[in-house]
Amino acid sequence: MTTETVLQQLKDLQGLALSEIAGAGDARALEAAKVRYLGRKSELTAILRGVKELPPAQRGKVGKESNLAKKAIEAALEARSASLGSAGDGPREDPTLPGVRPARGRRHLITATTEYILDIFRGMGFSVARGPEVEDDYHNFEALNMPEGHPARDMQDTFFLSERTLLRTHTSPVQIRTMKSTPPPIRMVFPGRVYRRETPDATHSSEFFQVELLYVDRGVTMRDLKGTLTDFAHQAFGESLDVRFRPSYFPFVEPGAEMDISCFRCLGKGCALCKQSGWIEILGSGMVHPAVFRHVGYDPEEVTGYAAGMGVERIAMLRHGVPDIRHFYENDIRFLSQF
Ligand code: FA5
Repeated sequence: MTTETVLQQLKDLQGLALSEIAGAGDARALEAAKVRYLGRKSELTAILRGVKELPPAQRGKVGKESNLAKKAIEAALEARSASLGSAGDGPREDPTLPGVRPARGRRHLITATTEYILDIFRGMGFSVARGPEVEDDYHNFEALNMPEGHPARDMQDTFFLSERTLLRTHTSPVQIRTMKSTPPPIRMVFPGRVYRRETPDATHSSEFFQVELLYVDRGVTMRDLKGTLTDFAHQAFGESLDVRFRPSYFPFVEPGAEMDISCFRCLGKGCALCKQSGWIEILGSGMVHPAVFRHVGYDPEEVTGYAAGMGVERIAMLRHGVPDIRHFYENDIRFLSQF
């Protein structure tokens, strides 16, 4: 065989291969073309094998042209395969099969519970505002009547970012920001994430959510506080629940009180959930301290007010019977998709 004949043969082969590949209608036809033109028994393979038998002067030319033809066929195979798409590889689609329902996302239980709480307060005429999670010492402590060195600062172990900036330990600093920018009366709620250096356990997380409540006007009394918070507890947990207020200490209120609801699991008899007490604490509250009013430029002789702060996770746990706060943050979809 002359070099010319071989070169002509290669040219014809390439032309045939390319037109067959272009006409391949599915992955199977494409695979057949691949075997025919590049397979072990193909003409091209035979030519490539025969190159070493050619006279040395012809080897270079024939070898080079054979390789070019091989590359062209490979490129055409790849391009056709891509244009057929991967659908051609697998079994054919059966249009009579029922469809696969796409997984539907939903709100996280903490977001849903926050909205649930806010809706109850919206219904009582409160409006919603938010404040920053990176706070300064002044708003998180000082203006809330906890000057430097005040022992009450230890009640909330703090993540400091620098000497004067920190991750807020509660939503109470939003009280300060709001009162500084708005004259009374104020009737607002402040939801948001807070941070504390806590060792996590079933009821404590180092990151959790609070909803803060602030009501300031002329003549607001402890009776307003008790009435509003009792009404909230009944709406959130059911009319039949008992509510009680226990004296408690927070530097930014006077007097201060914690609110408990009767344990809905044992109905007050005592069980593991309520630690045998029959009661479950859900929030801290109190009448805004005059020192706080002075910090924000309000006259404590003119206005009075109450504030409260509740833990969103605790409320979600109580409403849905979730035994461990850590479930909220492990992102196990089997847990989260139940709600
Ligand atoms: C406060 O944070 C006060 N700022 C609340 C307040 C506001 C009092 C206004 C008076 C007036 P306390 O540290 O108790 O208080 O937290 C309030 C609620 O947050 C608790 O009742 C609890 O429900 C929740 N909480 C506290 N620590 C954690 C924690 N580590 N993990 C989850 N929830 C927590």
